[in-house]
Amino acid sequence: MAASRAMEYKPGVLGPTGRPLPVFPDPEPLLAHGPARVVAVCNQKGGVGKTTTTISLGAALAERGRRVLLVDFDPQGALSVGLGFQPHELEATVYNLLMERGITAREVLFKTNVDSMDLLPSNIDLSGAEVQLVHEVGREFVLGRVLEPVIPDYDIILIDCQPSLGLLTVNALACADGVIVPLECEYFALRGVALLMETIDKVSSRLSPKLTLDGLLATMYDSRTLHTREVLAGVVKGFGDKVYHTVINRTVRFPDASVAGEPITRFDSTSAGANSYRELAKEVLARWQQAEPAVHLPGVAELLRPAARSPAGDSGRLASGREQHTQKITVYLSGSELLDLERARLSLRAYGVAADRGRIVREALAMLLADLDAEGERSLIARRLREGA
Ligand SMILES: Nc1ncnc2c1ncn2[C@@H]1O[C@H](COP(=O)(O)OP(=O)(O)O)[C@@H](O)[C@H]1O
Ligand SMILES: [Mg+2]
Repeated sequence: MAASRAMEYKPGVLGPTGRPLPVFPDPEPLLAHGPARVVAVCNQKGGVGKTTTTISLGAALAERGRRVLLVDFDPQGALSVGLGFQPHELEATVYNLLMERGITAREVLFKTNVDSMDLLPSNIDLSGAEVQLVHEVGREFVLGRVLEPVIPDYDIILIDCQPSLGLLTVNALACADGVIVPLECEYFALRGVALLMETIDKVSSRLSPKLTLDGLLATMYDSRTLHTREVLAGVVKGFGDKVYHTVINRTVRFPDASVAGEPITRFDSTSAGANSYRELAKEVLARWQQAEPAVHLPGVAELLRPAARSPAGDSGRLASGREQHTQKITVYLSGSELLDLERARLSLRAYGVAADRGRIVREALAMLLADLDAEGERSLIARRLREGA
């Protein structure tokens, strides 16, 4: 159970974006995995750091115990090459997954040399998909459909988009929960951003309302030049809080790492570049946690997932004597909800009922679900969610 917390700031310290620099909390270890948040790494301009961000952020999230799937969605295959694969030698890629029936994502994905990070590779074949999909019904949702079966397996799926706003990129946006936009700190790099934002708005209003802009990431930053500082200040002025506090400096270690076919976090683990992406991973996780609705109430099937097996034996109790549960629920509470819960616990105690908070939450959920079954549309939870939406 994780209470959402307000961001803390380093007193008196302004970050590179000219704003007070928050201290990003160390992400909590996950007790259960999935369903994944799907994030498109997108900018129709080439060479702005999309692929580098996908690999490096993915690897930094995997270091934090997250299960990560990287999707190479650029026919250039730079993401696959950057992880040491030879795209032209691959028998099946994301292209086959999109175009052929009866082939599943699990058959096409590879383990990478980073623990708990997998890759769906691509190669030049993918350039054919754009043309071939144009006449299909539901052509914008093909990627979403093929990724769906693996969403429960991962915590995060990052899609490395190609440098265009064509059908492939629209497919990535249409199945994504969020978009991360890497931006090179150059004036001419900003011109396309308005068009990108328009595309994101269109996809979110016409195809997929859940799509949100997660954030803009300044890449190839060089604090010594006035020009890059000014450009970054302009981006912050335009996009405010959507700009990540973390910025990625320009360093040759990134091209060196891609030549070596490794993420920077492995290639030069203690470098400033590796640490910047680790910081970004913390910021990204903190923001997602804050954006999470205070009480996340997914579908019933999602709520009741089998718990990981524990060494409790058959007694149904853990070594600590607590009851072992065969099903697991994750509930995120806001501060005031946590207080309510504590009040409920104390009131129950006044009636001579001793129950821990987990038990109270489970009982409350069981009551809500029974009410949902009985009352459907008119149930308390349906009414509350409708009002909240
Ligand atoms: N922070 C950085 N500093 C220096 N070079 C970088 C940085 N990020 C990426 N690069 C290099 O710039 C080139 C383009 O980056 P890439 O991630 O492939 O961009 P995109 O996917 O947007 O086309 C690559 O050679 C990459 O190694
Ligand atoms: Mg790329």
